[in-house]
Order: sequence, then structure tokens, then C-alpha cells
Amino acid sequence: MAKPTFSPEEQAQIEAICQRYPTRQSAVMPVLWLAQEKFGELSPPVLELVAETLGLPLAHVTGVVSFYTMYLPQRKGKWLLELCTCFTCGECGGRELWAYIQTHLELNAEGVTPDGLFWFREAECLGACDTPPVLQIEGRRMVFSLTPEKLEKVLESLRQGVLPPFESVPPRNPEWT
Ligand code: FES
Repeated sequence: MAKPTFSPEEQAQIEAICQRYPTRQSAVMPVLWLAQEKFGELSPPVLELVAETLGLPLAHVTGVVSFYTMYLPQRKGKWLLELCTCFTCGECGGRELWAYIQTHLELNAEGVTPDGLFWFREAECLGACDTPPVLQIEGRRMVFSLTPEKLEKVLESLRQGVLPPFESVPPRNPEWT
């Protein structure tokens, strides 16, 4: 397999990211995110590329990736979906939804559907506890107050290759509007 590389445009983007920080080491997280968006996962050759690009030891980059669950050393399905089953979401239907997803979508032991399209994981609190249960797609799109019906719409959209539209949640306190 060809060695992964960044395009000149991506290299320029990385240099712009580095300008925002006092050291190149400080830019490691956004550059890892950029690499994951491009390559889909942070495999060992991609980690080497990031380390070389930032002039960091490979062990430093690997350590960051192994600490944060948002980084994917190995992608297991085309779309990553994370259902919050932490306390509030879990108590408000998240645990039942997780059981439903596991059986209804026939997830394997790694949380992947038989067609390899969807990879489900349980998530810790996603910071949107007032609209439980919460689903996060590819670490960048949130779906609130999930139900089996809403989930089916999300999956259908992803089958078409489209992230569901951004969903704005109105503040509960009228004084905030
Ligand atoms: S407990 Fe699910 S978002 Fe906080």
C-alpha cells in the first residue's frame, strides 16, 4: 500500500494550524483530526506521517491517540455512531435503545452491522444531557432525543451517504432566547 501523504493544500492547512500554537507539539490534536478526516482512521503509517509532519516522536503521537476515544486507530465500519448510555441518557431510554440496536441491527461483538456500514459504540456523556438519549455521528453531528423511528431515518440518510441535517435544540429556559 502506498505511503500516506498530505497534499500541498493540507500541508498549508497544517502550517496554519501550527501558527495558532506556541509549539508544533501543541498542534497535534487538530492535525490528528485532520488526518482522521482524510484517511478515515489513524493507522500506524498515518501516525508516522503526522509525527514526521510535526517533527514529533512517534511515541508522543501514539500516546495522544491511545488516550482519546475520538481518535480511531482502526475503523471497523463505514459510519461510526456513538450512543450515550451515561447516567441521564441511560435512564431516559438510552439503555433500552442500546439493547434494541444490538439485536435489531444484528451487531457483531465489535458493534458492527453485518453489511459493515454501521459501527456502533456506547459513549460517555456527550454534554447534551437535557435532550436524552443522544447519538453522535462520526464525532461531529449530534442527534437528540433519539427514538427507534428517528434512528431509522438517520441510518437511511447515512445509507445514501448523507449526514443528517444539523439539529438545533431550543433552550429550555425562555429567558435564554
Ligand atoms: S448523559 Fe448523555 S449527554 Fe449527558
